Amino acid sequence: MKILHVCAEFYPLIKTGGLADVTGALPKVLNKLGEQCRILIPGYPAIKSGVSNAQVVKTINTFAGQATILFGYCNDIGIYIIDAPHLYAREGSPYHDMYQNAYADNYLRFALLGWIASELACGLDYYWQPDIVHSHDWHAGLSCVYLNLKQPYHHAKSIFTIHNLAYYGNFERYHLQEIQIPQSYFNVNGLEYYGQISYLKAGLYYSDHITTVSPTYAKEITTTEFGNGFDGLLRTRAEQQRLTGILNGIDDDVWNSTKDTLIVSRYNKRNLRNKHTDKYFLQNEFGLDTNNKQPLFCIISRLTKQKGLDLVLSLLPEILARRGQFILLGSGDDDLYQAFSKLANNPQYQNNIAIYYGYNEELSHRIIAGADILMVPSRFEPCGLTQLYALKYGTLPLVHRTGGLSDTVIDSTNENLDNKTATGFAYIDSNQEGLRYAINRAFELWQSQQTWRILQQRAMSQSFSWQESAKQYQQLYNAV
Ligand code: ADP
Ligand code: GLC
Repeated sequence: MKILHVCAEFYPLIKTGGLADVTGALPKVLNKLGEQCRILIPGYPAIKSGVSNAQVVKTINTFAGQATILFGYCNDIGIYIIDAPHLYAREGSPYHDMYQNAYADNYLRFALLGWIASELACGLDYYWQPDIVHSHDWHAGLSCVYLNLKQPYHHAKSIFTIHNLAYYGNFERYHLQEIQIPQSYFNVNGLEYYGQISYLKAGLYYSDHITTVSPTYAKEITTTEFGNGFDGLLRTRAEQQRLTGILNGIDDDVWNSTKDTLIVSRYNKRNLRNKHTDKYFLQNEFGLDTNNKQPLFCIISRLTKQKGLDLVLSLLPEILARRGQFILLGSGDDDLYQAFSKLANNPQYQNNIAIYYGYNEELSHRIIAGADILMVPSRFEPCGLTQLYALKYGTLPLVHRTGGLSDTVIDSTNENLDNKTATGFAYIDSNQEGLRYAINRAFELWQSQQTWRILQQRAMSQSFSWQESAKQYQQLYNAV
């Protein structure tokens, strides 16, 4: 089957979060299973320079100005690039300028993405027409509307994947005419959301099928608490069997402790001693006391409210007072960064805490390999990928039991330790008490290095391969 993945990020060329990891891995695995996936993505500078030998498919005039569609390859995946420099030739984030201000023409940049997807379905590339248009997050949501509008001219079905329901892609109603969507679509039963156009709702309402990235999140978003106002619509779609949760996987080519060239010392579950070397070098790199006695906690994350880092901040002095160590790699909210830095600059803690502000792929591998515990205290988490990477690297995850985190980490309760299923620490209440309870248990378990090692080995034996999840997508494509 021919499947077009429509997205705003793609690993390894442009990434702000897990979305890129998914679009970089899932099509690759689906192709190995016999499907024919291609990607459609805006022509940001990193995409144009990262896709080799891109050829012109067609130049067209659109409501957003002239655009040339190019086609080339990256990591053996075919990629359609929308080359429209007036919209996409901007360095840095795909969404905002260096001051974190969203680009004023985002409504146009991502309307064009959706529109070109529908044109591909209608035969823009004579040689390749998708049977399925699989769109990811709000950036690609309008593809479902345009496909709906052009229904007689194509045979494609649409799948819309929610990676995060917290980003709505809201824009003013008056743009409708410019982006060539009839006023009649501006409706509660349509893409209207509290008086604005929501590109996210466009995907939720007009797609043939919705997926999200974990089974638990698929249930959570049908509740008022997690549904962000879309829960009514999502409940209806769930009742119609049009909402499915499929867990994300790990790209074994990128995250594999036995062959990761970005880490100092490679290891598997039988030679975990080598992991100590990674810890030593990591401690050394960050000027922390070098030893294997102190448990090293880490976080790799976007600094946003979703991720619950303020909770960690409030308990960090306790972790440090108990001789724990802590490394944060993150970028985003400046206030959070300042608060962590203030603590890190306290002479009392200096040898035990380090904060790295910025986005650094290589460092993320060294931290996952060198740390003992990875914390993911998210308030909500559609899937979460860092805890999967951590499990694979024998770094025990300590997580809030929500969304994909609750589908992937098994708490070290006495019962789970006895029945040999525990793989980490998970707490229920997203508050200081909840988190503190999990931290206490991590410190307790650390005292018994033998039990710790058993947990590490079990964590590393978990299978979160894309193979299984890709097969579920295949079934869905066939059903749709
Ligand atoms: P989200 O997509 O909500 O940010 P995920 O856990 O799904 O959360 O994915 C985050 C991805 O981004 C992971 O691959 C993680 O390693 C990576 N990441 C997050 N922050 C950084 C950073 N500062 N430097 C390097 N990688 C990061
Ligand atoms: C989103 C979610 C995250 C998920 C990722 C990839 O950014 O916040 O939980 O893992 O998308 O699906």
